[in-house]
Amino acid sequence: MLRRLHSEQPDSFAFTPANQAWADAQITKYPEGRQASAIIPLLWRAQEQEGWLTRPAIETIADMLGMAYMRALEVASFYFMFQLQPVGSVAHIQICGTTSCMICGAEDLVAVCKEKIAPKPHMLSADGKLSWEEVECLGACANAPMAQIGKDYYEDLTAKRFGEILDELAAGKVPVPGPQNGRYAAEPKSGLTSLTDFESGRHQYNASVQLATDIGDTVKRIDGTEVPLITPWQGKAANKAQPPKPGPDAMMPPSGPDGPQGGRAKGDAAAPRDIGDASDKRSEAPGQAEGVEAVAKPPLNVADAPAGVKPQALDGPRDGGADDLKQIKGVGPKLEQLCNDLGFYHFDQIAGWTAEEVAWVDENLKGFKGRVSRDNWVEQAKTLASGGETEFSSRVKTGDVYD
Ligand code: FES
Repeated sequence: MLRRLHSEQPDSFAFTPANQAWADAQITKYPEGRQASAIIPLLWRAQEQEGWLTRPAIETIADMLGMAYMRALEVASFYFMFQLQPVGSVAHIQICGTTSCMICGAEDLVAVCKEKIAPKPHMLSADGKLSWEEVECLGACANAPMAQIGKDYYEDLTAKRFGEILDELAAGKVPVPGPQNGRYAAEPKSGLTSLTDFESGRHQYNASVQLATDIGDTVKRIDGTEVPLITPWQGKAANKAQPPKPGPDAMMPPSGPDGPQGGRAKGDAAAPRDIGDASDKRSEAPGQAEGVEAVAKPPLNVADAPAGVKPQALDGPRDGGADDLKQIKGVGPKLEQLCNDLGFYHFDQIAGWTAEEVAWVDENLKGFKGRVSRDNWVEQAKTLASGGETEFSSRVKTGDVYD
């Protein structure tokens, strides 16, 4: 298949401020002179923002990385994951056509695409909302046949169910991803035959689907506000440069039998996650999207504050009443009560917590240790305190939460 730039191109491209901050941060991962190594993540973020890779986007990124335009275009045109033509404004559907999916009905799914979207791949539907293509194995063969729609997998599809999903998407809904035939994950349809102890630990959805529904970005164009921007590699570098602290911790080796975080306070689950894990999946902190300066700020590093400092508490809520702390993802009625018992009633209190204060609260939430950092309360609270909304808080308000 010939992959070339689309004949119709927009005049310009710019990352959103939050995506720009994210992109600038990615570039700092690489040694001086090796910035071109950031080409794929930056192209990908541009595609996540726009839906497809435009010529101005490719050239903008080439400029950011000091690359010849042709070099950037070589990368964009080599990898099929990059869309070089407009895709559906709602969703681009990718049908796996490899062996497992093919023998389980992928051709029927392609037929649905031809009927409901467009007769040929990479063509837009009449209303411009959907497009489709057939792709190679997406690694969910145990749930064949399947399709990737936006960022999520829809598995165990039948032609009928797949057609319904397309209709729902076109109507502005986002069906819950994952298995569509009642399976929880990839277990036998009749239920587990081994490791049956795990039956009792189920939640409403499997972990992947749960994350997809929590974040709610399945077909969303990414503007950078979905997840907090953290740069653990910068934090680690900053920590290295710091002189050892006085006191018992200064005697701790940087690594030990407990691993690289040896010497951390027990229960401290708040060390920044390495890049490549789910850290990209958390909401952007307000103020961090303003530019590189915010990016360079080391993330909260509770590992440096094992003792913790109690944040300023209130005797009761201020006039006007307490904020609904349950709008913070991870805070339920019980945790909200615990917070109130500790003197925390308002988003702006939580938004102002330092790393040491987070460490103290993490240690003192009886039965819920580590939740503040695990669920990134401070960043969520910053958004809520400034009058903004997180994806989760807006779902709380509409009652569209399930946990
Ligand atoms: S063959 Fe379809 S996901 Fe692997």
